[in-house]
Amino acid sequence: KTLICKVNAEKPEQDIISQAGKILREGGLVAFPTETVYGLGGNALDAAASEKIYAAKGRPSDNPLIVHIARMEDLEKIVTGVPKKAKILAEACWPGPLTMILPKSEEVPYETTGGLDSVAVRYPSHPVAQALILAAGGFVAAPSANTSGRPSPTTAAHVQEDLTGAVDMILDGGQVGIGIESTIVDFTEKIPTVLRPGYISLEKLKELLGEVKMDKGLLRADASQRPKAPGMKYRHYAPKAELTIVEGSTEYVVAYINQKAKEASKRGRQIGIIGTEETFPYYSSGVVRCIGSRKKEEGIALHLYEVLRDFDQCEVEAIYSESFDTPKMGQAIMNRLLKAAGHRVVQAEKKINDR
Ligand code: TXA
Ligand code: MG
Repeated sequence: KTLICKVNAEKPEQDIISQAGKILREGGLVAFPTETVYGLGGNALDAAASEKIYAAKGRPSDNPLIVHIARMEDLEKIVTGVPKKAKILAEACWPGPLTMILPKSEEVPYETTGGLDSVAVRYPSHPVAQALILAAGGFVAAPSANTSGRPSPTTAAHVQEDLTGAVDMILDGGQVGIGIESTIVDFTEKIPTVLRPGYISLEKLKELLGEVKMDKGLLRADASQRPKAPGMKYRHYAPKAELTIVEGSTEYVVAYINQKAKEASKRGRQIGIIGTEETFPYYSSGVVRCIGSRKKEEGIALHLYEVLRDFDQCEVEAIYSESFDTPKMGQAIMNRLLKAAGHRVVQAEKKINDR
């Protein structure tokens, strides 16, 4: 029932794109690659298509969808106004991994915005995404193409794991480029506010816009402050086994995790370990996955969801991860990792080493 089609990521084949566009224009669902993660697309101006998206993902319908466009001039058809700073940001970052929240026009059904009067808009840079959006008529609603709660998909194989049978077509354009979802900036507030960190960093935004705030709900683990993006309040990106982030100096972190691995093996069990090229050789047991080198933060972002998904295929009783506070994407990476861990963080201290 689900058609899976390989497509050239740089120069998508026109016959495949036409077929996919037709499915969307007729109210069906097509999963497709973007530069961030794979998306689960439906016609954004068709209320019934948006309802199908929620059903396919098993997603609560109060969690709004992002509307994807592929022409700058299409923005004004779905919003009632574009503030000057939003224009500056669009000029600088579109097409690319940026989503802006703006007041919605009547064209956009409430089914697409989860009942809100604002709409999230993104103009992706991936050639397959752009071609598909144009073939569909210009407006494609697309959340990440995972089952609600699972890590976002960075390959078509991940999409197949979650959505085979639930969508009409999957366009396989290979691995994505970035690996974590777009930066979301809210322009319905007086001061532009980051609702979800991403590849476009807070520093970059401040450079372009001046004052920029971080949504308070992002900074706190407790429930006293709800994040403004409804999707950020759910436990998310989560592997099946409980994940804990271990902080501290590298030496103590490795010692702490090795101790946990040893305890587990005494019980005849195994833990999963998320390490780096730098620490990989020092882990003595457990299922160790290398997420990349600390010197290449793009690689860490790209492999994060894949590594989390991988552990679902193994019999591990718990997962321990190093912390990745890298200079540019660290905020985005740690935001996802903390959510996957349900904010479980421990400090590795010296004493665990003295036995
Ligand atoms: O990179 C991405 O943005 C990917 C690709 C496919 O484009 N899409 C994506 O969509 O991550 P999704 O649905 O997984 O995440 C959208 C987030 C959710 O947290 C949602 O609550 C928030 O955007 N959002 C959407 N519309 C909103 C609105 N009007 N106000 C506040 N938050 C909104
Ligand atoms: Mg998502």
